[in-house]
Amino acid sequence: MESAVIRRKALITGAAGGMGRACAYLFGATCDLVLSDVSKDRLDAFAGELRAAGNIVTAHAGDMLDEAHLAMLAGELDAGRPCSVIHTAGLSPSLADWQAIMKVNLVGTEMLMAALEPKLAASSAVVPIASMAGHMMPVIPDLDALLVDPLNDGFIQGIGAAVEAMGGGDEVGKRGVSYSLSKRGVHLLTERWGMKLGPKGVRVVSISPGVIHTPMGLSENEQTPGAADTMNAASIGRIGTPMDIAMAARFLCSDEAGFITACDLKVDGGSTATVLSQR
Ligand SMILES: NC(=O)c1ccc[n+]([C@@H]2O[C@H](COP(=O)([O-])OP(=O)(O)OC[C@H]3O[C@@H](n4cnc5c(N)ncnc54)[C@H](O)[C@@H]3O)[C@@H](O)[C@H]2O)c1
Repeated sequence: MESAVIRRKALITGAAGGMGRACAYLFGATCDLVLSDVSKDRLDAFAGELRAAGNIVTAHAGDMLDEAHLAMLAGELDAGRPCSVIHTAGLSPSLADWQAIMKVNLVGTEMLMAALEPKLAASSAVVPIASMAGHMMPVIPDLDALLVDPLNDGFIQGIGAAVEAMGGGDEVGKRGVSYSLSKRGVHLLTERWGMKLGPKGVRVVSISPGVIHTPMGLSENEQTPGAADTMNAASIGRIGTPMDIAMAARFLCSDEAGFITACDLKVDGGSTATVLSQR
């Protein structure tokens, strides 16, 4: 006999990474999981671990910039049924050059939203993971005008001039600027898609983490100048955990957050406020 209880699907990107794994552990208790990551080996191993623990898991390895992969993920969502999407796939300054950072973090997020839009039923929620870095840049209207159109053919070229100038022509500087701008772009995208999908009953809320104890967070602390200062700025007195982010995402996807959309939630232990107050 078929079960009368219909479980929500939770699509988690970057599922082999630190935050993605924590989200999978948490959402897997109540949802059927659809997991994606560019790293097939790590994804398959994690999916196997989750299945062995009794979770219902579908896993697709692929790149966030690959339209066919995104279409496959959209195909996993059931038309007319609400779902939760937690989009953690991303690159930080120590992991890639500035173009890759901008493409994966911002262009990939916009491509994901476009691919999922037709399948997002009322009561669905999408939580893109942004960063406190997106709150650190001064708001420059001309730059925002570029960041709201990441699928434009000339986007990377156009934003490149700003990255070059603001990064002082230095590779490390350019990566940091690209990361911050890409996350500012995710904040803007969240507002835009939240306003667009609100009338359908679909919510879009980004999370801006502070420094979180994941492979990426640890890599930044070791390799990116100034990152350790940011970690120490958490007024709560500790580094964040991946589960801090997963629990915030679970709340944002729940009906209890039903009036929250088109905005960003900082989950940073007070780091953003502390750093900005010291400038
Ligand atoms: N860790 C931190 O301190 C921190 C702070 C602020 C924001 N963030 C953001 O949180 C998100 C998750 O970070 P994390 O710490 O879990 O990182 P992580 O490196 O542990 O996980 C990210 C995952 O994304 C995957 N990925 C990278 N590029 C991809 C692509 N092109 N297509 C598909 N998958 C891809 C990686 O394989 C990895 O498994 C990122 O967007 C990051 O920018 C992290």
